[in-house]
Order: sequence, then structure tokens, then C-alpha cells
Amino acid sequence: MKNLASSLGEKNKFLILGCGFCGTFFAKTIRKFGCTALTSSRSESEDPNSFVFNSENGKVPNEKIFDGVTHVLSCIPPGKNGKDPVLGSLKNKLQNITLEWVGYLSTTGVYGNTKGNWVSEFDEPNPFQNRSHKRLNCEKEWIASGLPVQIFRLPGIYGPGRSTFDTIRNQKVRVISKKDQIFSRIHVADITNAIIYLLQNKNSLKFHQIINIADDEPCSQIEVIQYCYDLLGLKMPKPILFEDAKKELSPIAQSFWMENRRVSNKLLCETLGYKLIYKNYKIGLKNCFLNS
Ligand SMILES: NC(=O)c1ccc[n+]([C@@H]2O[C@H](COP(=O)([O-])OP(=O)(O)OC[C@H]3O[C@@H](n4cnc5c(N)ncnc54)[C@H](OP(=O)(O)O)[C@@H]3O)[C@@H](O)[C@H]2O)c1
Repeated sequence: MKNLASSLGEKNKFLILGCGFCGTFFAKTIRKFGCTALTSSRSESEDPNSFVFNSENGKVPNEKIFDGVTHVLSCIPPGKNGKDPVLGSLKNKLQNITLEWVGYLSTTGVYGNTKGNWVSEFDEPNPFQNRSHKRLNCEKEWIASGLPVQIFRLPGIYGPGRSTFDTIRNQKVRVISKKDQIFSRIHVADITNAIIYLLQNKNSLKFHQIINIADDEPCSQIEVIQYCYDLLGLKMPKPILFEDAKKELSPIAQSFWMENRRVSNKLLCETLGYKLIYKNYKIGLKNCFLNS
């Protein structure tokens, strides 16, 4: 990892807008290479590298925050109004500074339901859920902004502190079986490392504005849960058929089961040459197991 980001260093200042699960991981990693990383949160924090940004109440960062910024990564989902919270509040500001790169974390939900078939960046998005229509609109807003933006479409994100182990520990796991249903996923470390790899090799790689970051092996949720129970040395509860479990699921949980797709990473991993750290859920979950 050390030489990965050798072209990134002290001269680079990153603004990470929305410092939740991915933003925190990214900020910690990029700082290891000597970059400055300031992170936003909706509430005050004691962290000197954190500033307040909340599009809902108009709290925007002061001018000083933007001094010398070279890179911006937005991890903030669409607002309730379906618009992008960052562009709604900060577009002019961002357009008036000289940015080398802007990253936007989006979702593979924009592809909609492919009935289990593979889908790539070269396929037309076909959103099904209302939230995915909003997300596609946000992607379009970013592209129309004229900023040097790269959009990363992400499937289910997991990593230490947010994985099936945590769901089991919190007694929130539901073992649901639905014929032929699969999900794609990605470990948080691969999101960060893939982005750093692309930045590192920016001058030698063809620029692609939209890139999926997903692992090699989409699979059923039951396989993942079974693997976690095996690692824990516990017996997995008996699966419930989706049709029976459905009525107890929240509308958002239900909606995830209404889409079935395999997300291709060929552009990132074959064309652009990124090597996944966690190419499947087994390797990724072992990392979570050892770090939880
Ligand atoms: N979770 C998944 O499996 C998944 C899958 C695909 C794509 N994604 C998308 O990928 C992105 C990063 O995911 P994540 O899991 O790292 O997200 P996360 O942990 O939920 O973090 C989202 C961040 O956005 C900030 N935020 C939300 N609304 C805001 C607003 N109106 N104004 C300012 N800040 C706001 C939150 O601020 P606070 O820190 O103050 O809460 C938080 O820091 C998100 O857009 C997410 O929707 C997630």
C-alpha cells in the first residue's frame, strides 16, 4: 500500500464531505500518505480535522476550510428533495477553486433489477426504487457541474464494525431464503484502495467517469451468514422463506430483496488493473472477524 499513493502527499488537501463509514476509512488511509484530510459532520466534533456541514439547516464550512483544497470526496446520499446536498449548498464554492479531482460515492442501485444478470458501467441505468431515481439524478447533477468528477457505484458495503458479525452480535440477523437471489458487495478497504490506485495512476490510465467498485463473487446472503456462523463456531438459525419473512421486514429492507443483480468489476479490475484486497466475502469477512 505504501508505494500505491506515492504521487499523493503533503501537497494534497482532501475535503471529505460526509465522514461516515467510508469517509472515515478513506480519511485515515489518505493521511498515512502525508495528505491533509478534513472531514465534515452534521454536528460539532472535538476532532480538529472535522468541520460542520449540514445541508438541511444551511450550516456550511467557512472560507478557510477550502484554502488549498486539491481533492474532494463526497460520501453524502441524496437529500430528501432528491437533490445532491453538496451541490445544493457548495457548488459555486467548489467551482471557484482549482480542483484536481472530485469523487462521488454512488450506488449500484441505479442499475435496477437485472434478474440476476451481470451489469456493467456500459449498461444504461434502469432505476427501480424511488431512492435510486434520486441517486441517478445526483450523478447527473455532478456530471453537469463541470467539476472533474469521478463517480463510484458501490454495492453493499461491509468492513470491520459493519458486517454480518455485527448483525449477529446485535441479534438482528434474519436468515432469509429466496430462490436464485444474490447480492453484490464490497469491503470498505477496497473502496479506499481502488480510489487511491486510480488517483495514483491518473496520468497513465484512461479516465473513466463512472466506475463500479465491487468484489469478484456476488452470492446469496445465506452463504455469507452461514460462513459467519461457521467462523463463530455457532449453529445458524433455520432459514425462513422470503414470502414468510416479508411481512416483518421494514419497507427499506424489503426493497433490497426486490432487486437481483451481479455487478461487474471488469472495468476496474481488468481494464484499469486494480487488484482487490478482498476479492470475495470469505476473505473480507475473515478480516472483519479478526478485527472485531
Ligand atoms: N451502506 C451501503 O451499503 C451503501 C451501498 C452503496 C452505496 N452507499 C452510499 O455510499 C455513500 C457512503 O456510504 P457510507 O456507508 O459511508 O455512508 P454513511 O456512513 O451513512 O455516511 C454518510 C455521511 O453523510 C453525511 N450526511 C448525510 N446527510 C447529510 C446532509 N444533508 N448534509 C451533510 N452531511 C450529510 C452524514 O453525516 P453525519 O456524520 O453527521 O451523520 C455521514 O457522515 C453514501 O452515499 C451511501 O448512500 C452505501
